[in-house]
Amino acid sequence: MESSPIIAPSILAADFARLADEVGAIEGAADWVHVDVMDNHFVPNLTLGLPVVESLRKATTVPFDVHLMITDPERWAPGYAEAGAYNVTFHAEACDDPVALAKTLRAAGSKAGLAIDRDTPVEPYLEMLPFVDTLLIMTIKAGFGGQKFLPEMLDKVRDVRRRIAAGGLEVRLEVDGGISADTIEQAAEAGADAFVAGTAVYGADDPAAAVRRLRALAAPMVAGQ
Ligand code: DX5
Ligand code: ZN
Repeated sequence: MESSPIIAPSILAADFARLADEVGAIEGAADWVHVDVMDNHFVPNLTLGLPVVESLRKATTVPFDVHLMITDPERWAPGYAEAGAYNVTFHAEACDDPVALAKTLRAAGSKAGLAIDRDTPVEPYLEMLPFVDTLLIMTIKAGFGGQKFLPEMLDKVRDVRRRIAAGGLEVRLEVDGGISADTIEQAAEAGADAFVAGTAVYGADDPAAAVRRLRALAAPMVAGQ
């Protein structure tokens, strides 16, 4: 079966005073909207939390891809699933038992994602792929938007893609950090099929057009995966 790319604009690069409008600007063009939750503990930055997600959920039909950069995800992650998030991703570095939390999230009504930060090898987590819906490879160090894409992270993407193919698994392989028209093709070529883009979408004059451009660049490679 041919697959098509998921493009997930990150509202980290949007105007936080106009979040509903900013999500509206990519409605119809984007597949998911990526919501970066940071707790100023797991990462040295603070963004938004559950009350904002609950309010924003009512303002749009675009599925939410929640990226939890927080400690103690066991405590907080299920609330995002209950709030109607489509996918809830937590960090491997913050979780003792990723398979158990993935199971909890699915029971709470969302897809479950596992994120791997820049300095974490992916190898120990490959055996968990059958138990998650999304594997997120950071192509920067988690914490801030607008950083430069790290091409050396693509070895991890290749490892995961190989394992997904070998196991015939239905797992979305997502990349996050520095994804733009200049970098999306190499990420897709390495095997990613879901792409987070903050600055490249919300820094553009026409965010929906930026999403369509990213999709057009990634689509040929993703179709061939
Ligand atoms: C950073 C976040 C990213 C961020 C990406 O830790 O996880 O989702 O918004 O921003 P850009 O696309 O600007 O690198
Ligand atoms: Zn993110």
